[in-house]
Amino acid sequence: MKIAPSMLASDFTRMGECAKSVSAADWLHLDIMDGHFVPNISFGPDVVKALRPLSDLTFDVHLMISHPKQYIRQFAEAGAEIITFHVECDDDIDETITEIEKYGVKPALSLKPGTPVECLYPYLDRLYMVLVMTVEPGFGGQKFMPSALDKLRWLKAEREKRGLHYLLEVDGGVDDTTAPLCVEAGADVLVAGSAVFGKDDRTAAVRRLAAL
Ligand code: DX5
Ligand code: ZN
Repeated sequence: MKIAPSMLASDFTRMGECAKSVSAADWLHLDIMDGHFVPNISFGPDVVKALRPLSDLTFDVHLMISHPKQYIRQFAEAGAEIITFHVECDDDIDETITEIEKYGVKPALSLKPGTPVECLYPYLDRLYMVLVMTVEPGFGGQKFMPSALDKLRWLKAEREKRGLHYLLEVDGGVDDTTAPLCVEAGADVLVAGSAVFGKDDRTAAVRRLAAL
């Protein structure tokens, strides 16, 4: 089980210290929002680049933006190791995956709670990971939607059926109570914002989630 604390829940006046405070985790989850694909704006590639030398964690960049393709190079050069974009975006999905691969970055696709999981079907064999949103993307601190668990089960079964190897990541409202449900349904990676950065002892928070 991999734990990916989300920097969206960190103190933006102390992002460097916050990134260092979660060194017990596996990945660092970086939420990019454009105020168009979602009704919120977060931070861009320059912030990712500034954090890169401060952390040894795998940089897991989650693009909640309408036109991801034109920004892939910038995020790759900023140090992204995994780039997730949304199947609901306005760019061509296959072309965007190809663009991610071009920079040696691992491609992943995500879907919103209201999007049927079958929309991912044509792309699964090209993906390093699928990110199942367990809240409506845009904001941290929302309530977990258990309806997403069926998507995890479907994706896990499909992976076995087709002999594929993509990881399953969940994002939104993951805490000590909801994490076991995700694990049971097939999650390999847990994104946690508030459940990690909301705690004083981040190492303990990460270890507790990893142990569930
Ligand atoms: C939501 C983001 C999440 C968010 C998770 O749009 O993609 O990564 O930061 O925050 P919590 O864990 O607080 O729900
Ligand atoms: Zn995210």
